[in-house]
Amino acid sequence: MSTPIKPMVAGNWKMNGLKAGQAELHKMLAGISDDLADCVDVMICPPATLIASFSEKVTGNVMAIGAQDCHAAASGAHTGDLSAGMIADAGAKAVIVGHSERRTDHGETDADVNAKAQAAWSAGLVAIICVGETEAERKAGEAVAVVERQLAGSVPDGATAQNTVIAYEPVWAIGTGLTPTAGDVAEMHEAMRVDLAKRLGAEGSAMRLLYGGSVKPGNAAELMAVDNVDGALVGGGSLKADDFLGILAAYQ
Ligand code: G3P
Repeated sequence: MSTPIKPMVAGNWKMNGLKAGQAELHKMLAGISDDLADCVDVMICPPATLIASFSEKVTGNVMAIGAQDCHAAASGAHTGDLSAGMIADAGAKAVIVGHSERRTDHGETDADVNAKAQAAWSAGLVAIICVGETEAERKAGEAVAVVERQLAGSVPDGATAQNTVIAYEPVWAIGTGLTPTAGDVAEMHEAMRVDLAKRLGAEGSAMRLLYGGSVKPGNAAELMAVDNVDGALVGGGSLKADDFLGILAAYQ
């Protein structure tokens, strides 16, 4: 019998958060009981400027700190970029790669994402690899095919349930208040599970598959209850402690 997958809820603060944001972090930490931390792995991915200070505030296994991106190279002449090693050195345990905002704003390809995931592993970080279709692709009935193509290109050989988390984020659901139906989420997560298990065997079967896109306290329980949904990657709903704790309540 396969071991149950421990869910993960990660907050992606995107380009939000100043030092004063520590107040929200403190409120979150105070609101996560040991029992809750036993049921779900909680992570906050603040802007890179806050990784080191946030990491110092987080003790025990209540929460981990992650990053939002890394460069594929270990070091070198890449002005303004951060290597996975630097992020790990600052205290991060994971890094989001291939978020649709980076794919769109910075032209990142599946090959770029694949290289970044491998760089993350080399630095001892978990790679949270994002995939997801646009509204036009969904309307054209291509959503599953697009995501399968992104998985094939973005997830490196050697991905395991320990070093990799997949986040399905339909682009049209990000920051819009729109979410797919539970049925559509179930269909996509089932397709991803089958695809990853075929390619990676037991590791693909045990890999965490997060849903992301307008997750809020009001819809978290329904979305998190969908088969093959092993947690959430949350944007706006992770900025305020009350909202984030409301989402985590789906696991209480
Ligand atoms: O990475 C999280 C994300 O893109 C979803 O954002 O604001 O719709 O929860 P949001």
